[in-house]
Amino acid sequence: MTDRYAVIGNPIEHSKSPLIHRAFAEQTGMDLTYERLLGRLDGFDKDVRKFFAGGGRGLNVTVPFKEQAWALADERTPRAGSAGAVNTLVPLDAGRLRGDNTDGAGLVRDLSVNHGYLLSGCRILLLGAGGASKGVVRPLLECGPEQLVIANRTADKARRLAATLQPLGPIRGCGLDELEGDRFDLIINGTAAGLQGEVPPLPSGILTAGGWTYDMVYASEPTAFVRWGQRHRAGKALDGLGMLVEQAAESFLLWRGVRPDTAPVIASLR
Ligand code: ATR
Repeated sequence: MTDRYAVIGNPIEHSKSPLIHRAFAEQTGMDLTYERLLGRLDGFDKDVRKFFAGGGRGLNVTVPFKEQAWALADERTPRAGSAGAVNTLVPLDAGRLRGDNTDGAGLVRDLSVNHGYLLSGCRILLLGAGGASKGVVRPLLECGPEQLVIANRTADKARRLAATLQPLGPIRGCGLDELEGDRFDLIINGTAAGLQGEVPPLPSGILTAGGWTYDMVYASEPTAFVRWGQRHRAGKALDGLGMLVEQAAESFLLWRGVRPDTAPVIASLR
């Protein structure tokens, strides 16, 4: 029997996940389907239960349901726990569900494997303290950076997020207006400022010479933050396409026990 997978969100038409997972299935010769599922804003739990009761083998979860999926999961991985959000549901026995979050692993793999960036020992600035940043902060810290600073327009939110991970490594939260004189090797954008074509205000000289920038968002045109990186002579100014494909590969690995080759899929989407 063909194994069924899906991504649930609202809206969902724009999701590239079916394209990516079908490419993985073809590449690995696996017999599976992967659909888009429009979740009801007032019926997410029921929609998820119905999918798994009908024999579904795995779900990806996207906006605006990631926090609800976290609450719904019967058990959660530590990285999903830190993220406060779940993007991958794996069925266990007796109708129970494990919630995981593969976003951070996707970001780390894109940087370290696809681009050969050494995260260990480097100084990282993470912009924003919303869902996108929460999803990646623990896997980043586990790479052993010299320092991880979360800077947010609302400083308290960054301080609170940093405080939850303080025991795991050198992490600190602050306001965007407290960065004067700081220098970073890698600046990652997890804010929603790009939606208005904006970049969070940053002091000049904040990126070390040859330092890299990474926008977790991706679009067909260079994003505002990618252009910021280019203007500030970043060694590389990356967008989030690689992360998108890598988080999917990480989900595929959880479900199927095989890590697909992401390079051809990233190239075809580009
Ligand atoms: P999500 O959870 O979907 O990421 P969010 O919680 O609204 O959405 O988070 C969006 C992030 O982008 C926040 O860190 C937000 O800063 P605040 O916490 O101060 O609201 C940040 N953000 C949004 N627009 C921004 C802008 N124009 N400049 C700087 N930061 C911005």
